[in-house]
Amino acid sequence: MKDDEYAIHKLPPGRLDDLVEAQREIFSDYMVPITVSREFMDSFMRSVGGKTENIVVATDDGGIVGFVNPVVDGKEAWIGGLGVAARARRRGIGKRLMAAAEDIARDGGAEVVLLEVIEGNLQAMSLYASLGYSKTASYVSAEGLPQQFAGYGPEPMKATVDEVRSIHSEAYSEACWQRRKASALVESGGNSEVYRVDRGFVALRRVGATGFIPFIGVAPGERRKGIGTSLAKFALNRLWELGAFKVALYNVNDDLVTSRMLDKFDFKVTLRQVEMRKAI
Ligand SMILES: CC(C)(COP(=O)(O)OP(=O)(O)OC[C@H]1O[C@@H](n2cnc3c(N)ncnc32)[C@H](O)[C@@H]1OP(=O)(O)O)[C@@H](O)C(=O)NCCC(=O)NCCS
Repeated sequence: MKDDEYAIHKLPPGRLDDLVEAQREIFSDYMVPITVSREFMDSFMRSVGGKTENIVVATDDGGIVGFVNPVVDGKEAWIGGLGVAARARRRGIGKRLMAAAEDIARDGGAEVVLLEVIEGNLQAMSLYASLGYSKTASYVSAEGLPQQFAGYGPEPMKATVDEVRSIHSEAYSEACWQRRKASALVESGGNSEVYRVDRGFVALRRVGATGFIPFIGVAPGERRKGIGTSLAKFALNRLWELGAFKVALYNVNDDLVTSRMLDKFDFKVTLRQVEMRKAI
C-alpha cells in the first residue's frame, strides 16, 4: 500500500469499540503486556480527563491501523497513547498522527505537549526526537512484596478522596502528568482504600493477586518527618491483610528520595519511563 492510501481523521462517533479491537493488533508486539479492553479504555479516559472526540485514527481499506489520543488540559496537552500496526509502520503514519495531535492541542489552547515513553522504545523515542521533543524527566515502576509490620508510627485514618484532594495537589505537583491530575485521583482513588496522616495520604487496592499503591504522597512542608515511611509501612501491611501476593507501583519520580524508599522496602525497579515534551 502506498503511503497516501492511509487516511488520517478523527475517530467517528460511536466507533470506540473498533479502536479497541484495532489496538489488539497495534499493541500485539509492544514491549510490555498492555491491557486492551473497552472497560480499560473507559476508565483510562476518565482517569486522564480525555475526550473520545479528540482521538485521531489512521485507516486503510481494512479499518484502523493507527491511532493517537491527545488529551488537552489548559495550557498542557498529553499524548495518552500512540500506535501503528506493525504492517503499516515506517510509512510516516506515526508522524502524521502526531502532527494531528499537536494541531488539536494547539486548537485547544495548549502551549506544550508532554508524553511518556518506555526507556528502550527506540522507534518511538526517535520518532519523538525527530519531531522536536526532548527529555525532561524520568519515572520508574517498581514491584515488591506486601509486608507485615508491628507498628507504623502515627496511625493513618481512613479518608475519602475529597479529604485528600488538596494534599494530592500539593504532594503531586512535581509528579508525572497523569498522577498530578485530580481526575486520576478520583478515578483510581474511588476504587481504592484511602488513608491519611497529617498532610500525607496513601491510596491502595488489591486487584486479583496484585496490590497497587496508586498514590502515596506527603505535602512538601511536611516531608522528612517520617510520614511517608509510616504510610508506606501501613500500605504494605494493609495489602498483606488484603491477601495481595505482590505490590506494584507505577510512574513514581525517579529521584534520590524515591530510590531510598524503594530500597528500604526492598522494591525492584521493573520499568523506566522517560518524559518528553515540546513547546507548540
Ligand atoms: C512508534 C510508532 C508509533 C511509530 O510509527 P510509524 O508510523 O512507524 O512512524 P513513522 O513512519 O512516522 O516514522 C517516523 C520517524 O520515527 C523514527 N522511527 C520510526 N520507527 C523507527 C524504527 N523502527 N527505528 C528507528 N527509527 C524509527 C524515524 O525517525 C522515522 O522517520 P524515517 O522513517 O523518515 O526515518 C510505531 O513504531 C508503533 O506503533 N510502535 C508500537 C507502539 C509504541 O511504541 N507506541 C509509542 C508508545 S510511547
